[in-house]
Amino acid sequence: MKKSEVIKAIIIIAFIYIGLQVFVAPAYLDREERNLKISAGQFERLLKLLSALQLQVFVIDPELLSDTQLSWEDPSHLVSGRKSITFGHLHEIHTKHQMERYRLHFETIGYRYVSTASFSPVTGLSSPSHHFLCSQALTVHVVVWFNRTRDTVWTDQVNWLYPSQPEDSCHLDGKYFYNYSRLFDSFNLTKRGAFLVPSPTEKFLQEVPDSQLVECNRTRARQYMDKYGQNYTEEDKVFMRKARQTVSRAKQYLDEMGIPFWLSSGTCLGWFRQCDIIPYSKDVDLGIFIKHFNADLIHAFEQGGFFLKHIFGKVSDSYELSFQSGDIKLDLFFFYEAADHAWNGGTHHETGQKYKYIFPKFSLCWTIFLDLKVRVPCPSQPYIEANYGKNWLEPVHVWEWNRSPPNVRDNGLWPQEEWKEVIQVF
Ligand SMILES: *[C@@H]1O[C@H](CO)[C@@H](O)[C@H](O)[C@H]1NC(C)=O
Ligand SMILES: *[C@@H]1O[C@H](CO)[C@@H](O)[C@H](O)[C@H]1NC(C)=O
Ligand SMILES: *[C@@H]1O[C@H](CO)[C@@H](O)[C@H](O)[C@H]1NC(C)=O
Ligand SMILES: *[C@@H]1O[C@H](CO)[C@@H](O)[C@H](O)[C@H]1NC(C)=O
Ligand SMILES: *[C@@H]1O[C@H](CO)[C@@H](O)[C@H](O)[C@H]1NC(C)=O
Repeated sequence: MKKSEVIKAIIIIAFIYIGLQVFVAPAYLDREERNLKISAGQFERLLKLLSALQLQVFVIDPELLSDTQLSWEDPSHLVSGRKSITFGHLHEIHTKHQMERYRLHFETIGYRYVSTASFSPVTGLSSPSHHFLCSQALTVHVVVWFNRTRDTVWTDQVNWLYPSQPEDSCHLDGKYFYNYSRLFDSFNLTKRGAFLVPSPTEKFLQEVPDSQLVECNRTRARQYMDKYGQNYTEEDKVFMRKARQTVSRAKQYLDEMGIPFWLSSGTCLGWFRQCDIIPYSKDVDLGIFIKHFNADLIHAFEQGGFFLKHIFGKVSDSYELSFQSGDIKLDLFFFYEAADHAWNGGTHHETGQKYKYIFPKFSLCWTIFLDLKVRVPCPSQPYIEANYGKNWLEPVHVWEWNRSPPNVRDNGLWPQEEWKEVIQVF
């Protein structure tokens, strides 16, 4: 072999070697790892872009907010090993179509932009409610927060209309802020490293698991009003105003004591059917799980100007409190949880007869009732139907508390010697 041929061969081998290194070898590297390396730089570029576009985002991802090991100074650290990250963005009118206009910017740095919209129950207008920025390695989910009442904010669930769910390049794990609309107390934003987070962060995190919001059905309420009229007397209107005020005061005391409560019986039916107080109901009914009973409760209501009317039952069985404020009666029903149902008790103060009201198991959701953030049983319809039967949609003016409800059962008699304790009328 000539010297020149040897050199040629060496050069060819060198080229093949370099070619293998440059074009083929990377394919053997862990794909995942390469993607993440790309994503770290890409993520920082996205943050810079959002900031340049004055789209202020804050971290709401519960896994990140509760992670004490994270370095919040370093954006790449925040997304390292993750396929998605969840941000919040406070709704501002002028951002309505901004994101669409910036589509090209996002694409230039390797993110595909997809959004979903929602109708605001406050304004009746449609607004984008979720933004997804999807690259090969990372999906940035931006959840839009809307003002609701004076001191609450809400987010909607993801509603894919068309072109249904994006099938490629978006990692939609659907874990958080995805499946339900949610209601939160308003929060401030505070800096944590290079990011903004809701403040107080602990409170925000505590709210996440039980933040599901169910809206009162306005269509149903309108149909009910069309059918049965809204011909309220002055007296009705006064009652409705006072009843709302009673819910509001009870909420204040119970919230201060950290006792979760929900709209029950007639007050719940009014919310579900009419989005309002039932004018002929003449009282306000709230439910509380007995496990949340706190002995300070009676005192707090008395301090607040309620008069304790009666105590029926005892904490271990069929407990029930009734207060009066002016001409409004407020009933607090305490609920007991069994393996496959929940129940509350009733007591006839003259005969000592005990009753049991049986409900299918339920959890609690938030709703907005007459501008108040309160809980309702969830799902609501089975609860209503247990209590009022399948004909709950029809107004019934004559209702006997111990005979009419389909879910009431006789539950024996209180022993005479216990009456002094379990039947206290003031
Ligand atoms: C939402 O409420 C906050 C605080 O009350 C207020 O500063 C902000 O302007 C409101 N945003 C919109 C879009 O109304
Ligand atoms: C939310 O919905 C998605 C899609 O239906 C589902 O895959 C996911 O498990 C749900 N997440 C929760 C927390 O229910
Ligand atoms: C938000 O900040 C304002 C002003 O500092 C404060 O009055 C308010 O209580 C804060 N709200 C929350 C939920 O922390
Ligand atoms: C609201 O009520 C209407 C009329 O009763 C019903 O057709 C509709 O399904 C309800 N909507 C929801 C979300 O439950
Ligand atoms: C409303 O009620 C009043 C008094 O009950 C009655 O005189 C009036 O005719 C009713 N109006 C309608 C539109 O039903």
